[in-house]
Amino acid sequence: MSVKTLLPANKGMLGSAVSLSTRRAKSWFAGVQMGPPDAILGVTEAFKRDTNPKKINLGVGAYRDDDGKPWVLPSVRKAEERILNKKLDKEYATIIGIPDFYNKAIELALGKDSQRLKEKHNATTQAISGTGALRVGAAFLSKFWEGNREVYVPTPTWGNHTPIFEHSGLTVKKYRYYDSKTCGLDFKGCLEDISKIPENSIVLLHACAHNPTGVDPTKEQWRELSQVIKKKNLYPYFDMAYQGFASGDVDHDAQAIRIFEADGHQYCLSQSFAKNMGLYGERAGVYSVICASKEEADRVISQIKILIRALYSNPPVHGARIVAEILNDKDLHSIWLKDVKCMAERIINVRAQLKQNLIDLGSSRSWDHITNQIGMFCYTGMTADHVARLSKEFSIYLTKDGRISMAGVTSKNVGYLAQAMHEVTK
Ligand code: LMR
Repeated sequence: MSVKTLLPANKGMLGSAVSLSTRRAKSWFAGVQMGPPDAILGVTEAFKRDTNPKKINLGVGAYRDDDGKPWVLPSVRKAEERILNKKLDKEYATIIGIPDFYNKAIELALGKDSQRLKEKHNATTQAISGTGALRVGAAFLSKFWEGNREVYVPTPTWGNHTPIFEHSGLTVKKYRYYDSKTCGLDFKGCLEDISKIPENSIVLLHACAHNPTGVDPTKEQWRELSQVIKKKNLYPYFDMAYQGFASGDVDHDAQAIRIFEADGHQYCLSQSFAKNMGLYGERAGVYSVICASKEEADRVISQIKILIRALYSNPPVHGARIVAEILNDKDLHSIWLKDVKCMAERIINVRAQLKQNLIDLGSSRSWDHITNQIGMFCYTGMTADHVARLSKEFSIYLTKDGRISMAGVTSKNVGYLAQAMHEVTK
């Protein structure tokens, strides 16, 4: 376009000056409306504004030790020391990141003996933590998925799933998952809905420690789900943000993926190392498409590179180096396994304490789901009104859906929390 065609149609200097000043009077973004605070991260903002010394933040899922402090894993500290001593440079990583990181990461998910990995059927890339891995996956599917452009997510699901897929141009639909009567899995409803999804659609599955409910299918139920998904010719998309964090055992938490793997599915997978290595701000994630052949995987990764180049060029290196250091070194790896177990066990323990405190206070409700659910979160069954009272009267902050980040509960604040929960629910 030439400069001339950009000029306003009215002629002469005066005409241009008038039209410029009229245009200036109206701001470019006058029509932009104020957006709501983020449903999860917005809770932290409200918490920070509260001056009550007893305040508790149970919003965002970020691990805390028993003093309520963020915890840098000993394995991570050691890995960082080693990295520092190596005096590495700060050059760009490749578009798909650091091979020592993403190759070990996918091996952690699929297992050392995975035939698919041996035959290089995986198109794997580093990504900007779990969210970035999902976003790259959504961008890839949006461009190349030839089936039904619908992604089916469980009800409820992590608050960011829907925007991630919708912003990428896919339509999000739902299948039943959680039963509010039992605070457990609605397996019958889940199977029924999944078996009615139109063929060639994408179905999102939380590999372990379902967020926000903490409710996972059993091994047997995963087997059944795998069969139905296969029969209906659906495309499984696993989101695995908590491997090891749920049970304390990285292989156990990968059981769903291993079952689908053994059943010969083609699928894709997003992984995050935010929770299981405590690398929240380091943004270390991985996206993989498990393809029908190496030749297909080569084509897929070539297109993923093109997408990433236009999104952010290449990923940050520090977090990936930490994970690579841990996963590629026998000693650090075993220290990390202990660290993961330590986090999972503290959470399992504090769940029991919260339930016992509520029983001791004489609550007439059943709180069995606190210990039946698994992972970072407890979906308490408390209503938005209960949650509002908790923050207003007790300075206890959580998401409106009644989800508690169990990582924020400690042996020191569990009594106060139980009392407050009892007070608002009786
Ligand atoms: C959460 O659900 O709290 C975490 O996954 C953090 C986030 O980004 O939402």
